Amino acid sequence: MAEIRRVAVLGCGLMGSGIAEVSAKAGYETWVREVDDATADRGGKAIRRSLDRAVERGKLETAARDEIFSRIHITTRLGDLKDADFVIEAVTEDLELKNAMFRELDGLCGPDTIFASNTSSLTIAAMAAATSRPDRFVGLHFFNPVPVMKLVEVVRTIATGPTAFERAFAFARSLGKEPVEAKDASGFIVNRLLVPYMLDAIHCLEQGLATTEDIDKAMSLGTGYPMGPFTLSDFVGIDTLYRIAEIMFEEFREPRFAPPPLLRRMVTLGYFGRKSGKGFYDYSGDRPAAVDLGITRARV
Ligand code: CAA
Repeated sequence: MAEIRRVAVLGCGLMGSGIAEVSAKAGYETWVREVDDATADRGGKAIRRSLDRAVERGKLETAARDEIFSRIHITTRLGDLKDADFVIEAVTEDLELKNAMFRELDGLCGPDTIFASNTSSLTIAAMAAATSRPDRFVGLHFFNPVPVMKLVEVVRTIATGPTAFERAFAFARSLGKEPVEAKDASGFIVNRLLVPYMLDAIHCLEQGLATTEDIDKAMSLGTGYPMGPFTLSDFVGIDTLYRIAEIMFEEFREPRFAPPPLLRRMVTLGYFGRKSGKGFYDYSGDRPAAVDLGITRARV
């Protein structure tokens, strides 16, 4: 099998831009594909900003930043990814959208190219089945913010071949990450445990157990989590959390994965968390302020 030299990343949003950054930092020529010029431009700027911040914080020399940035090639054409040795998909959690890209790339890339998805909750088999290479298809699940979080879940389906799995595992390590192996069950390890916890925090809030701030404070100071469940939900994105919970509920049919109605209402109203400026907290002021969701006050 050929050495991994060229990496392709599908999507340059929050996760895709982070994955492209760590890939280029590790020395790989990295092609990133976005759907149109405007999103491609935004993605490129996000990577640049992140590298600039690292320079400002004294973690990167300017020459190293420029070298890393020169290894990142942003494109809107899937055809530009045809020579990639490793493809990582990081687009929205829409199976049809992902599979359409995988199908097309399957016909463009060489037989040794490994395909990976960064999905948080869909099963890898559902994507592998859309290609002619289920034996060379893995999950590679990164965590936000990608440049900081050390973990990568490397997911093996029942069809993943041992060589492809070992290569994916070694590739994750080469990015400076700590890989763990997980089976292809929706949510893998982290979201299997984290999503019910975050949903349970919403139930606690709905039942008037304590305020948003106090639940966050309790979990952060009482267990050493860097963020309480509501700060984390806003950080992950309320819409993303809702979508992950829905997919996990569809997979397992267990009430603990069912998104609470409040989460659905928040999504309907565009309370997406940090990215929209409002979720469990309002981010328009100097400091995040808990949003009155009309629950605690009514019950206490
Ligand atoms: N990109 C690059 N570096 C970043 C960064 C970013 N977006 N955000 C923070 N950092 C770096 C900072 O530069 C800083 O580095 P140094 O200490 O070397 O200077 C370090 O991270 C700490 O940052 P801050 O001091 O600004 O802030 P903090 O101490 O509050 O840390 C945090 C920020 C790392 C995000 C921390 O709050 C944290 O770990 N939060 C929990 C994040 C988490 O749980 N992520 C997983 C979410 S679940 C998921 O992603 C999976 C899914 O499928 C939904």
